[in-house]
Amino acid sequence: MTLDELYQVHGTLVFGHRGACAYTPENTIPSFLQALEMGAHGVELDVHLSKDGVPVVIHDFSLEKTTNGTGLVVEKTLDELKALDAGIHKGAAFAGTRIPTLDEVFEALGGRIAVNVEVKADTDGIEQVVAECIARHGMNDLVIISSFKPTVLRRFADTQPHLKLGFLIDPTEPQEVNSIYMSAVKHHARHPFYMTIDRAYVRVAHQFGYRVNTWTVNDPDHAINLAEMGVDCVMSDMPDVMLKALGHRD
Ligand code: G3P
Ligand code: CA
Repeated sequence: MTLDELYQVHGTLVFGHRGACAYTPENTIPSFLQALEMGAHGVELDVHLSKDGVPVVIHDFSLEKTTNGTGLVVEKTLDELKALDAGIHKGAAFAGTRIPTLDEVFEALGGRIAVNVEVKADTDGIEQVVAECIARHGMNDLVIISSFKPTVLRRFADTQPHLKLGFLIDPTEPQEVNSIYMSAVKHHARHPFYMTIDRAYVRVAHQFGYRVNTWTVNDPDHAINLAEMGVDCVMSDMPDVMLKALGHRD
């Protein structure tokens, strides 16, 4: 199924944010597989390039928060990143879990669910290697690229027009600034923080052809309200809870 078909068949989709990161180490293969097993329609993940140009899946620009390493992701080779423990911060049971490459995540998911690839780093060439990776796994129609950085989205819009783009709206930026950013880059979906939108927002976005994919929704009542507004996707650290709240599973 394509991402468009998932929207049409299921209504408000549930994506596991960084996998199912309330339960398992964020942005790791065990977390993505847990979201898949829970029945999530997709997962959200964060991408940077290693020093040797490999797309790797980790949230922060630096290593301290989720690994036993120090320094910047972009200053480490893939071998150096692979030597780090990206699970121990979540508990001893996850010791030895590694930072995955984007290739490894697609391989593990096997095209069974959609992927929101949030590109964090505005590194030269990132659009090329990420797009090649997506194509290699036959994921062109099951992926949406998102970013808070209009310059990153523009890289993709200019060179990878076959990929869908989601504009991540930074709620700390003035609305006028976000409006300028959004008018500067062609995109397919709006990705606002869920607390900043209402029914009118969703209606107008849909009138102008934008999907509305929201983050990060961990309260079932909020998910139900958002679904009633017509939101297209909620991203959650607890996809199981959201799937149940929205009637996707018992
Ligand atoms: O893509 C939605 C959300 O992941 C954006 O914020 O900081 O969790 O990457 P962050
Ligand atoms: Ca993210």
